[in-house]
Amino acid sequence: MPGIICLGTQWGDEGKGKVTDMLADKMKMVVRYQGGNNAGHTVIVDNVTLKLHSIPSGILYPHIVNVIGDGLVVDPKDLIKEMNSLVSQGISTEKLFISGNCHLIMPYHKILDSVRERKLGKYKIGTTGKGIGPTYADKAARIGIRAQDLFDIKILEQKLEQALKEKNQVMTKLYNLKPLKAKELIAEYSVYAKYLKKRIVDTSKMINDALDRGDKVFFEGAQGTMLDIDHGSYPYVTSSSPVAGGACAGSGVGPLKINKVIGVTKAYTTRVGEGPFPTEQINRFGQKMQEIGGEVGTTTGRARRCGWFDAIVVKHAASVNSLSVIFLTKLDVLSSFKKIKIASAYNYRGKRYDYFPPHQTIFNKAKPEYMELDGWNSDISGITKYEKLPRQARKYVETIEKLVGVPIKYISVGPSRRQTIKR
Ligand code: IMP
Repeated sequence: MPGIICLGTQWGDEGKGKVTDMLADKMKMVVRYQGGNNAGHTVIVDNVTLKLHSIPSGILYPHIVNVIGDGLVVDPKDLIKEMNSLVSQGISTEKLFISGNCHLIMPYHKILDSVRERKLGKYKIGTTGKGIGPTYADKAARIGIRAQDLFDIKILEQKLEQALKEKNQVMTKLYNLKPLKAKELIAEYSVYAKYLKKRIVDTSKMINDALDRGDKVFFEGAQGTMLDIDHGSYPYVTSSSPVAGGACAGSGVGPLKINKVIGVTKAYTTRVGEGPFPTEQINRFGQKMQEIGGEVGTTTGRARRCGWFDAIVVKHAASVNSLSVIFLTKLDVLSSFKKIKIASAYNYRGKRYDYFPPHQTIFNKAKPEYMELDGWNSDISGITKYEKLPRQARKYVETIEKLVGVPIKYISVGPSRRQTIKR
């Protein structure tokens, strides 16, 4: 059973791209299973930095087959742009395949994403504006357009006309916008169809065949557990399932084909967009993490909110994902902090929670209870052996491990592949 899931345990941006890079040599296939071009995976190979949005990180390796699984929403215009940009940098996209079951992001989804956010005012989610939520909403309402629809013009026309009947009413009457014309959309999407045709296949069969052959398949999560539609900080979440269960549903494989779940965890906490963040530091500590960690969103360019490590959040992720191991990233970012805090519990109205609270109000108003640890005040970015880390850094790692209850097997102390400690 050579299926490995790699996912984020916080609010995304944990550095998942680096894990793919580390394990790529052994992989035959990399599968994205949810989300869309809201994701931003930064991968650094041979000193070249690449930013990927819809395309799996395995694309950088010629031996890897890359799959955009059933659970994704795809903006074909953006995907083609991303493919062309890779090709112009000398990276082949010949081994990229897309599920015919993917739902397509249509122009009205992007329009509705941004006008709805504007209308929400102070209650906005802070979405990436890529049309993700409205596309998943149409999928659930069973009025979505799928990649396979591009190859049956009659069906496409019928579905699009049906969808536009409602969308145009909403856009013109509710938001005072111009209506869209089915004919124009069909003309535009037919061009994309031609371009993508040979890549749109039955990816579930492709993945299962690979697993049955004994090939190592890597399921690459986007966003993170706290952005999961069911298990995250709803409604300040994305509209898909980044959790481990989502990997099976979003790629069409059964859970018995998975033998390992790697939780990628940043040594502190960040989030982009709105929503509760109990350990957020709107002060010089948060600012320092932001600056040293280069905490700027890959997709939107927004500065990420920063705060102390929240063990309750990661413990929650360990539970809902059945994590086998943790890959701890960006430990080096904390190297110049004299004291470092870890939230080990929350307090709300006289009650102490050392587990993820069952009600959103508690999570929104929780006051973190912190442990304070000594910093190590030295450069650790060249260290490759765990025993060589300063005592205080090891104490920090082992405290997190104890609180979360999952072994930390890898520790990243810098962006390059070499800057990783294997325990
Ligand atoms: P949406 O996915 O564009 O609908 O945005 C919903 C929420 O998820 C917003 O708070 C976004 O900032 C956040 N989000 C979406 N994708 C990512 C990601 O790749 N990293 C971090 N946050 C994300």
